[in-house]
Amino acid sequence: MPDPAIPTPSKPRLLRALAGEVLDRPPVWLMRQAGRYLPEYRALRSRAKDFIAFCLNPEMAAEATLQPMRRFPLDAAIVFADILLVPLALGQKVWFEEGEGPKLGPLPAQAELEVSLDAVLGLLAPVGETLADVREALEPDRALIGFAGAPWTVATYMIEGGSSRDRARARGLAYQDPARLDALIEVLVEATARYLTLQAASGADVLKLFDSWSDNLPEDLFERLVTRPHGRIVARLREAGVSAPVIGFPKGAGALLEAYAAGAGVDAVALDVQAPAALGQRLQKRLPIQGALDPLLLRAGGAAMDQAVDRMIGQWNGGPYIFNLGHGVVLDTPVENVERLVARVTGWGG
Ligand code: CP3
Repeated sequence: MPDPAIPTPSKPRLLRALAGEVLDRPPVWLMRQAGRYLPEYRALRSRAKDFIAFCLNPEMAAEATLQPMRRFPLDAAIVFADILLVPLALGQKVWFEEGEGPKLGPLPAQAELEVSLDAVLGLLAPVGETLADVREALEPDRALIGFAGAPWTVATYMIEGGSSRDRARARGLAYQDPARLDALIEVLVEATARYLTLQAASGADVLKLFDSWSDNLPEDLFERLVTRPHGRIVARLREAGVSAPVIGFPKGAGALLEAYAAGAGVDAVALDVQAPAALGQRLQKRLPIQGALDPLLLRAGGAAMDQAVDRMIGQWNGGPYIFNLGHGVVLDTPVENVERLVARVTGWGG
């Protein structure tokens, strides 16, 4: 029997919220909390040969992961990596051009992708090392998040060859060659499940699936390309014995969010900036939610940001809730604003 007089190491606040607890104040972390808005990140980044080499260098990636943890009293770290490491591990060329975002070479043939599945864990092993190093350095009451891009979003980059305004080629493929797209999604389900299993085994306490391009899909395609693949990944993780909670982020899902929450098998849903208060509250009856301050309001800061923080905590902290943005911190965000935001959330009610 544990002696109640001896305090047990406190369970990370993020894990408590993910277990469905309603807390005095929500845990807080921020998508893209590591990155170019931090001067120390820019200094570190300038020492790397290129962005991919940076992500695959455990020492540098661990340092980038920890930088925001030293500055702010955040409740969780997210491993420094990128969703496009999976296409790279599957044998597609990936590089980042300064100021232009990611570029990808031609999509490998399906048979080649399937053969490459066996090499995925070898190439992504450095991310496991980063996680292990960060977990060791991080205080036990702060959670460590691992992540991957969800199959559909990663497939859009693989098909389009980079970022694109409306992903018309990728969405068109769903009609023009459904078998080809489904086979690609299938490879990505498998690669992603293996990668996330590696991350959990390396020290990730929580896993997150980023489906950044879930918008603009008709209901049937959304079910086929977003909800079902997320469900298959979660099922594969559980089969592999991974118990870490999974946060799903179907960005832009809009009216399909509740169907997603009911069908994707995830343990929590991350909301984007447009999610209505009442929708969040309905979702909280089923599972914890995360979100969803506008990153542009974080960049703007001031009283308007403070008011939005108060409103969001007021509307959602009656259920299991994780404070975050609705998308990543933008490049030219003043560091003082992040400091002010995190202080406001962590000081809530105090
Ligand atoms: O702090 C964190 O959130 C962890 C690290 C992280 C990065 N990318 C680092 C990164 C995470 C979680 C991602 C996810 C990611 N990457 C997504 C999903 C989330 C989202 O934003 O929708 C996507 C779509 C990508 C693909 C990607 N990577 C793009 C489109 C770009 C270029 C955009 C840009 O800001 O330049 C990247 C590069 C990237 N990934 C950077 C960082 C810090 C900037 C590159 C640099 O520092 O040179």
